[in-house]
Amino acid sequence: MIPKLVVHSANQLLALASPDGPRRGQELRRLDIIEDGAVAIQGDRIVLVGDTREVLAEAGEDANIIDASGKVVMPGFVDPHTHVVFAGDRASEFEMRLQGASYMDILAAGGGIMNTVRATRAAGLDEIVAQSRQRLDRMLAHGSTTVEAKTGYGLDTENELKMLEAIRLLDEDHPVDLVPTFLGAHAIPAEYKGRVDDYVSLVVEEMMPVLAAKGYLDHDPTLFCDVFCEEGAFSVEQSRRILAKAKELGMRLKIHSDEFKALGGTALAVELGATSADHLACTPDEEIELLGNSDTIGVLLPGTPFGLAEDHYSPARKMIDMGVAVALATDLNPGTCYCESMPFIMALACRQMGMTPSEALVASTINAAHALGLGHEVGSLEVGKKADLLILDSPDYRHLAYRFGANLVQAVVKAGRMVSQ
Ligand code: NIG
Ligand code: FE
Repeated sequence: MIPKLVVHSANQLLALASPDGPRRGQELRRLDIIEDGAVAIQGDRIVLVGDTREVLAEAGEDANIIDASGKVVMPGFVDPHTHVVFAGDRASEFEMRLQGASYMDILAAGGGIMNTVRATRAAGLDEIVAQSRQRLDRMLAHGSTTVEAKTGYGLDTENELKMLEAIRLLDEDHPVDLVPTFLGAHAIPAEYKGRVDDYVSLVVEEMMPVLAAKGYLDHDPTLFCDVFCEEGAFSVEQSRRILAKAKELGMRLKIHSDEFKALGGTALAVELGATSADHLACTPDEEIELLGNSDTIGVLLPGTPFGLAEDHYSPARKMIDMGVAVALATDLNPGTCYCESMPFIMALACRQMGMTPSEALVASTINAAHALGLGHEVGSLEVGKKADLLILDSPDYRHLAYRFGANLVQAVVKAGRMVSQ
């Protein structure tokens, strides 16, 4: 008999049942809070959700019981855009930026992403895994139970493979589930300066076939491919070449678009049927409309302008009004946003992008799951889904966005096991 776990008597149980796919418009705010709610888990799956009395009666006497009186019980956060795997840090660039240097100027001068590329190339696999594991520990403590993880600090075949291997090892032995994304086109490495098309050829003609040959595309669901579509990084045409090839190989698609300049990357994402388009800080109205009429999730990253001490936040209100299925993510990375906390991102989303606490919550759970193609598996507390849930040390979900700078996540259950308390 597989042991049962019941979490009961929650002041607010946020199941966020979403049988119709990603939430848009008014649906982003609908929480259907269950008061005095409970959830029963068997093995790694949710088997019952509802009223405490009913769930306890059905679960039987042998269940292990956790009393969540006065607390919120909700799905684990899904963080659908991170660069969590890297070596070193860029604290000195943070200080330079505070004194006036811009992020893209530092990159153009050979620093920025390239600094982290040098550190990541120089570090052994074990070192990268050890440094990244500490960040995953903190993400888990702040309630993230599934996170995307991008490559993009290798920028040559050997080191991009090393990053994918680090992600695989961490997924294997850390409680947090990692969803890998190949971001070979994150920046133009120094050895290809002035020869961007040649670097794109390397990505398309060498790196991607090697990924396929090594079996990285054989998993179900398969690897994501992402591109940094930006002035000073990759143009729309170069992004198209990379993403079209990825699609041909059966990969799923993502894009960094409109972080600083609008080049047309969001329209490209919609055209190619990308799973998500991310950043969207300066997306033109026509492209917001395209996004709102598509299945592509808009992943908003308010930690990035905050981390850069800039004010180009995404127009989330307009996007929601225009039907975009928005999600939130940390964008955790050593350059623009060294943030491991989804609740802090929610706090920013409410203050800087005008989202309501309920919208921010849905965008950080079920919609974030859809941004990884995992809407059927995580992101809500529904029978049959993976038992990833949080107990908050607060009586009301709004505290997540209302309070900030302290961690309200009291306990994390990951795949049916208590992993952080
Ligand atoms: O999403 N803009 C591109 N990539 C990251 C930053 C990575 C870095 O600076 O190391 C971002 O902001
Ligand atoms: Fe990013």
